[in-house]
Parts: sequence; structure tokens; C-alpha cells
Amino acid sequence: MSADKQKKAAAEFALKVVDNDVKIGLGSGSTANYFIEAAAAKVKRDKLNTIFVATSAASTALAQKLGMNLKNIEDVPYLDFTVDGADEIDPQFRMIKGGGGALHREKIVASSSRFVVCICDESKKVETLGAYPLPIEVSRFGVNPTAWKIEGMLPQLGYTDVKMRLRANADGKPFMTDGGNAIIDLQMGKITDPERLENVLNNMPGVIEVGLFIGLCGVVMLATDKGVQEITRP
Ligand code: A5P
Repeated sequence: MSADKQKKAAAEFALKVVDNDVKIGLGSGSTANYFIEAAAAKVKRDKLNTIFVATSAASTALAQKLGMNLKNIEDVPYLDFTVDGADEIDPQFRMIKGGGGALHREKIVASSSRFVVCICDESKKVETLGAYPLPIEVSRFGVNPTAWKIEGMLPQLGYTDVKMRLRANADGKPFMTDGGNAIIDLQMGKITDPERLENVLNNMPGVIEVGLFIGLCGVVMLATDKGVQEITRP
């Protein structure tokens, strides 16, 4: 089964959380899009009163197009679940997210939820995070000094072979997040201590969000060719 089919299967499996009077955060990315489409169809078919909060302009646009009952995070400060994809997830359910650039809003919505349901294809499951470049959302003001400080700090944490890249669009212009910030991608190799790395990066001026999602995911719905497995955080 292709990765795309697995993403769809995981998204459809997650439909079981879509119910009456439940408040659900909608993630961003291709897997989350499958969930948004399937959830919209279920709500319509079963005439459910389900409230949704989106994590990006793209998810908002899709949910609006599908006529979902979409609320602003300011009006729904507490959510039951967020259903979202991941770029990588390890055995402790620590994740790298932000490949699509939505990490800041995704983390705000995820941390406002009782827990995150991660829907993913099997390529996302890793033993150690870091093969996928770690996105860091940074202020556009001072992006160069911020990058320079990050570069100087990493060897002190034992990361000596890191490649750093300012994310750009296809036209070569710097990528801009929904919040108007830039993204620095760090090709780390292996992230041996995600908690410490997240802490140190979070304390650096100019850093707005780190694409490490730790302690947020409670359930993984992992699609493989044998079907979808539901795994609860150990
Ligand atoms: C969006 O910024 C990301 O956090 C996505 O959730 C992540 O990149 C997974 O994307 P796909 O579902 O498209 O693989």
C-alpha cells in the first residue's frame, strides 16, 4: 500500500473520535487533510454537532469549504482532541512536526487539547528522531543572528554535524508561516535528547516555536499494509 493510502486509512480510522458535542483540533498537512474530509462527511451524514478548530490557514480553508462547524481558538480554549499528522514519531510518542510550516499554531492547539491523536503512515515511525530536518520557527527580524546563535549552541549539546537551512519557497524567496515568521530547518542526524534540545532552543531570543512535540501525543493510529494499529502512549 502506498504511503498516501496508509495516510487515508489512518485518517479514516480516527473518525471514531468524531462525535456529538466533541471539540476537535484539526491538524495540517496531507494526512490531516484526509481526516478533515472524512470528518466533514461523517458530521454531515450523521447530523453531528461537532466543533472544530483549525491549526493553519490551509486547514481553515478546507474546513470552511466543506461547511464544517469551525470556531476560533480564542472562543474554544479547551479541546477534547487534536487529530494531526507527524513528520516523525518515536517510541515515546515524541514527534517532529512542522514540515508544512504550521508548527506554532499546531502546538498551541495541541497543547489546548486533552491529547493529540497522531495519524500517520508507517514511514513516520522512527527509533530516534532527527533524520527528518527539525523545523524551528523564528522571527524574521534578526533571522541571521538567531541562526548564528543556534549554530553556536548546538555543539555545546553534542550536535557537531548539523546542516542549517533557511526554508525557501520554490521561487527562492524565504518561506513565511501563517504568523509571518521564517523557518530554519536543522538537519540533525540523531536527536539524542529532544527534551533538552527543545528547552535550550525555546530559551533563545528570536525562536518562536520548536518543531519538537513532546508529551502531547496520547494515541497513535499507525497505518501499515496490515491495517491500522491504535497504540496508546506507554
Ligand atoms: C505541518 O506543519 C506538519 O506538522 C504536518 O503535520 C506534518 O508535516 C505531516 O505532514 P503530512 O501529513 O503531509 O505527511
